Amino acid sequence: MFTATLSYQKSAELPLDLFAAIQDLKQEMNAIVLAHYYQDPDIQDIADYLGDSLGLSQQAAATEADVIVFAGVHFMAETAKILNPDKLVLLPDLDAGCSLADSCPADAFAAFKAAHPNHLVISYINCTAEIKAMSDIICTSSNAVKIVQQIPPDQPIIFAPDRNLGRYVMTQTGRDMLLWQGSCMVHETFSEKKLVQLQIQHPEAEIIAHPECEPPILRHASYIGSTTALLNYCQRSSRNSFIVATESGIIHQMQKSAPDKQFIPAPPQANCACNECPHMRLNTLEKLYLAMKHRTPEITLPEDIRLAALRPMQRMLAMS
Ligand code: 13P
Ligand code: SF4
Repeated sequence: MFTATLSYQKSAELPLDLFAAIQDLKQEMNAIVLAHYYQDPDIQDIADYLGDSLGLSQQAAATEADVIVFAGVHFMAETAKILNPDKLVLLPDLDAGCSLADSCPADAFAAFKAAHPNHLVISYINCTAEIKAMSDIICTSSNAVKIVQQIPPDQPIIFAPDRNLGRYVMTQTGRDMLLWQGSCMVHETFSEKKLVQLQIQHPEAEIIAHPECEPPILRHASYIGSTTALLNYCQRSSRNSFIVATESGIIHQMQKSAPDKQFIPAPPQANCACNECPHMRLNTLEKLYLAMKHRTPEITLPEDIRLAALRPMQRMLAMS
């Protein structure tokens, strides 16, 4: 009963033209909306900047806006706060977490790190601020190979939390790394058997994949890269059809940038929409508007954690 009343009140607050109302709020608040490609299409369309984790971090580091509205998941908004302690950073739904970040709890990781004291810790940006604070360098899917290549060959490395990206980086660099055994629930959902069947139905289509996918999927891919890299690849490729093994939200942007090409989502194991990230999809245009209007929910961080997490972030930005 209470929930019904609350949702009625919230919907009564919503303007008829949400797009126009959000544009007005951006002006009034001097706000920038940063969005990831896995967001709903209408959020992608209202964003001032749309990108992969590296691009979003670079934008967050460079913006002169007073308010950053982060349409993505918690670790992304937290990263913006690490870089901008004096700005208001809003996340439309604070429950928008990440299964990969959750697969690396701070206590267990601290013990793992303590057991390997001579290792350099490189952490994928998909982790909490506590894990970043325990890391030497942060990386994203677009710069992980480049960053590992800059580490002296005799330096042992812990790579956390994504074992799939870690394994992929090992194949690209020839480096052995100690991998934290985390993974993303969306990228491990794809079925190799169904992917091969789909390829038989669409022999002209090229398989492209995100490095968070499991090895049985990656071995069928003719191109592997971050979300932005996948998008750029489809634009410049002479092929007209692609099977896309990553979260299906990116297909909106692929279709917009190459309207004459065909983009087929790679099939998940079950008959479900498991190739949609349930965390990313908690954000909606309505929640984004309400977050701006009420200036909440806000991302906050203890200053000691923020400062410790800032150093490996700055190293990443310098090495990218
Ligand atoms: P990128 O957009 O950096 O490739 O990351 C994908 C992802 O899983 C974000 O959660
Ligand atoms: Fe996390 Fe995977 Fe969702 Fe990205 S797609 S936010 S890695 S759960």
